[in-house]
Amino acid sequence: MMTKTKASAQILKSVAAAGAVLVSVTLVQPVQAASAPEIPRIDWSFDGPTGQFDRAQLQRGFQIYQNVCSGCHGLSRLSWRNLVQPGGPEFPEEAVKELAKGWPNKIIDGPNDAGEMFEREALLSDPILGPYRNEKAARAAQNGAYPPDLSLIARARNPEFHGSVFAHGPHMLRDILTGYQAGGPNYLHALLTGYTDVPSYIREENGHLKPVGPEGAEGKTVEQCASVTHGENGKPDVCNPLADGMNYNAAFPGHQIAMPAILADGSVDYPKDANGVALVPTTVDQYARDVSAFLAWAADPHLNQRKATGWQALLFLLVTTVLLYLGKKRIWSRIDH
Ligand code: HEC
Repeated sequence: MMTKTKASAQILKSVAAAGAVLVSVTLVQPVQAASAPEIPRIDWSFDGPTGQFDRAQLQRGFQIYQNVCSGCHGLSRLSWRNLVQPGGPEFPEEAVKELAKGWPNKIIDGPNDAGEMFEREALLSDPILGPYRNEKAARAAQNGAYPPDLSLIARARNPEFHGSVFAHGPHMLRDILTGYQAGGPNYLHALLTGYTDVPSYIREENGHLKPVGPEGAEGKTVEQCASVTHGENGKPDVCNPLADGMNYNAAFPGHQIAMPAILADGSVDYPKDANGVALVPTTVDQYARDVSAFLAWAADPHLNQRKATGWQALLFLLVTTVLLYLGKKRIWSRIDH
């Protein structure tokens, strides 16, 4: 049997090992962060322990998906009926049935009596399909790039932490306490609004590339770099120009993305009030917010219900705690001290 001191030495050793792993993980972080840009946090209706999805926003978000994104991306882990269910966009069932029926990307079903597969219109129970049958077909049509299925993309992406190593712990704690889970939608919003011109740099005498500031670059040679690889050991920086067929995006890791800037101000009509004025702005920023919220819902369709149930469970536990405490006092009060 292990003695007490041996056991505590063992525990100390494991704690030290865990500590070492933690330190190395946190120290490695800033090095990786160099490739992934900082993503601002924006306010969402579904933030925090009580936040809920805004139905009107989810409806607009689906509209953006339908009018713009579905040209290249599928949403195949979502079925049409999900658009009707509580906690989501909650479109009327008949409207969704019609939409599914008219969806250009048909369902392949079968085999029929002749043993052949056939195409048919989508039903409420069918997945929301993108335009491509498989990854190869998608890549062939998209110049080699693959537009991923967007069903879970809001969960599959999360921005990296950019602060100092020592701030990492407190930030993590704050995020846990505030129920922060909007990393994915924040990234999506930054991605969709992140298309800008390729940044210009001027080369300093020591070989470093410096972004051209507001003072301009008069008389100096300007280099357009999608990203810059810093030269180590005194070597000059390397300018990575934008490759053919790629687009510059400030939020995308590496800054070169095959997806073009597809959103433009005013390109999608939004619901209007009685005077014909759009109820929300028809800007790229608003479109990006709405479609990102919609994709956050797609990846976590039970959020509203889960949070409501969570509070009920907490209330229940609170009442139980009080009852147990009172019961305990009563039972033990009979024993003389
Ligand atoms: C013209 C086709 C096209 C349209 C329309 C389009 N995309 Fe894409 N999208 C792509 C391609 C191609 C990629 C793969 C990019 C790459 O790997 O460089 C991509 C990648 C993405 C990614 C993954 C980025 C990452 O971090 O890996 C997201 C998210 C995305 N698109 C969202 C959207 C949304 C939201 C819309 C609608 C507002 C949309 N896309 C419309 C072609 C398109």
